[in-house]
This record gives sequence, structure tokens and C-alpha cells, in this order.
Amino acid sequence: MKRLIIKNASELITCKGKSPKHGKDMSDIGLIKNGCVVVEADKIVDVGATDDILKKYDEYDYAVIDAKDKAVLPGFIDSHTHLIFGGYRADEFSWRMRGDNYMSIMERGGGITSTVRATRNTSLEEFVEVGKKRLDKILDMGVTTVEGKSGYGLDYETEIRQLEAMQKLNEIHSVDIVPTFLGPHSVLPEYKGREDFFIDFMINEVLNKVAEKNLAEFADIFCEKNVFSIEQSRKFLTAAKHAGLKLKIHADEMVQLGGTELAVELGCVSADHLLQASDEGIKKLSASNTIATLLPATAFCLKEEYARGRHMIDSGCAVALATDFNPGSCFTNSIPLIIALAALHMNMSIEEIITALTVNAAAAVNRSDTIGSIEIGKKADIIILEYPSINFLPYHATVNIVETVIKNGQIVRGK
Ligand code: NIG
Ligand code: FE
Repeated sequence: MKRLIIKNASELITCKGKSPKHGKDMSDIGLIKNGCVVVEADKIVDVGATDDILKKYDEYDYAVIDAKDKAVLPGFIDSHTHLIFGGYRADEFSWRMRGDNYMSIMERGGGITSTVRATRNTSLEEFVEVGKKRLDKILDMGVTTVEGKSGYGLDYETEIRQLEAMQKLNEIHSVDIVPTFLGPHSVLPEYKGREDFFIDFMINEVLNKVAEKNLAEFADIFCEKNVFSIEQSRKFLTAAKHAGLKLKIHADEMVQLGGTELAVELGCVSADHLLQASDEGIKKLSASNTIATLLPATAFCLKEEYARGRHMIDSGCAVALATDFNPGSCFTNSIPLIIALAALHMNMSIEEIITALTVNAAAAVNRSDTIGSIEIGKKADIIILEYPSINFLPYHATVNIVETVIKNGQIVRGK
């Protein structure tokens, strides 16, 4: 059996306790000075101060990492991405820089529609090949679990192929993937005015088969003005719940439609984006089990105002942070960028940011029992920073300072 001790960590961030953490509890990251973690096979078997722990174990029986002058924390979880797609939209980015806007490009048949064309022309093998490269990059940044959505097929074959690609990648790559079916992601020109018909098609012809084949754990929808309405979202998500899937929703991103309130009503595991969430919606969210997943890199790339993360935390919400990596609104999977934006533009403390990328993100992918904290019995998904404190994460703004990544008890990056 493989055994590992990580000792002398100047800061060991355990994130232990409740998952998810709401409001003030997000600041509680269970810091242990001069900390030590013991790993056997793929699990954490002991955690504490180095002096106490080393009295109980014989170092000679273990591989030992000396984390002197380094901070140790749970692997990051990127709980909202659109990881698998064909083609790119660099041209659109340049149009936006000249003043065009995201929704108007979409209404002209660009945007998601253009990625759908490219994705339909991409084979399973090509998805896997490019998917591997994307997973390699996020693993470098300390991401040990990632959520990935379909939603660029909008037909049966391609939606299934995107999900199968994630299933395959899950088997061959050390990053764990949590698959989400996002069939109602956009209205193609041929379905304009027939959105209800499209929703029925997605439910009857795609969703139920995805559930039967066990290809997704979550269902998601783009609930937005000129995309899918509150009623259409309610119908689709209710059907998904009946089919046994957990729920997510792209809510109140561009226009305040009430997607936040709908998320609470339906018991969604997370409500994502929330740039325009109402005061009432935030209040409801804070009293619910639904995670508020904020995606600051999307606001950054679209030059929009950031979601009101500070207000949400002060109101008692459980906030998660994620990249929203996708070929259109946010072509970046940079965790260091997310940390910088949350710290500098959303006024979140580094403790809150870490909670949002670990325990709360674990809850957002329904994995609270197994990942998101350094606690006995959890998976040994652990990262070690190049510097002695988590304060270096926002301070060394946008730079990756993850030195070592341990996934399932194995060192997969660094030494
Ligand atoms: O989360 N808002 C909708 N969907 C994605 C963007 C997808 C795209 O532009 O390709 C998002 O931002
Ligand atoms: Fe998204």
C-alpha cells in the first residue's frame, strides 16, 4: 500500500467542518500551524500538528514530503465549466472588444450557435484528445475535480458524444469529472419561436436517454431573456429531477428573470452566474441549501459588473467560485485569475475564496462526503503551494503558485 506523510506545513488549511459553509462560516478554514497529513492508499488517515502526528507514525514506513515554508490545502474543485467543445471564437472576442455585445452576437446566429456547428463536426476521439490537454492544464493549477457540461450539440448524437467524451476522460485522466447535461443551452435559429417544442424534444428524446445511460449526474439550463424562460426552465428541470438528476441553473446572468428564486423553489444544488440576482432572490438563497456559484472571469471577459459576492456572503449565502471555462463568454480556466478577481473586485477574503473553491465547490458538485477538505476518511486530493501562506494566492496576482498536486494519494504534479 502506498503511504505518504506531508509534514511541517507552515499553514495546513483543512477546511474541516460543515459542507457547505454559509456566510460567516466561510471564513472558518480550520488552519493548523506546522501541520501534518498522513495518507494511506487514496485516503487521508490522520491530520494534526506535526509534533503530535509524528509521535504516532514511523516516518520510515512512509514517503515523506517536507512542506516547511509551504502552505498545504485541499485540491481545488472547478464546479462550473463547459470543458468539451469544438472550435474557438477568437473573432467574436475581438468584435466584443470593439463594442459588440455577447447577446446581440448570439441573436445574429453567432455565439453558442457557432460553437454548436463546430462541435457537431468534432469526433469523440478529438474531444478526448483536446480534453486531455485541457485537464492537464487545470491539474497544473491544482484542480483535482472539475464539473463539465454538454450543451454544444443541442441534438441527440452530439450531446451524448460530449458526455461520452467526459466519461472516457474520467477513466484515463487523474482529474475527476462530474458530468452535467446542458441540453437547453441555446435556441438555434431553426427553433426560434418553437422553444416549447425544443424543450419537449430535449426532455423526451435526450434527457431520458442520458439518464438511462447514466451519462450525467446533473442537468442544467440557460434560463435567460431570449433564451429559455422561467416556465420552460421549470418544466425541463422538473423533468430532470424526475429522471433522477440533480439540478443546476444558469440564472440571472444578463437580465433579472427570477432564475435565482426558481433555483430555490426547485431545490437546485447550485444557481450559477447571478450577476443580476435580486435582493429577494439572495435572501431566499441564503435560507436554502442551494449554492451560489459565482463566475467572476465571465464578468471580467464580458466587461460586466461582478456578482454581488460580498453582499451574498454577508447575507448568509453559501458561495462557490468557478471558472465557467467555455469558448465564448470566458475562454479561461485560470484558477489564479479567479482568486485575483474575487479578492480584488468582489472583496472576498482569501479564507472565503478558499472555502468557495473547496468545501462549497464540493457541495456544488454533490461530493461533500468525499472531497473539499483535509479530513480523516476523505480522498487524498491535496495541493502544496510554493510559498508559506495562503495570503500569497491573491498577492502573487494571477500567477500559478501550486507546486505539488496529490490526487487520490498519488503525486501527479511536482515533487
Ligand atoms: O455560462 N451563459 C451561457 N453559457 C455559457 C457561455 C457559453 C458560450 O458562450 O459558449 C456561460 O457563460
Ligand atoms: Fe456556464
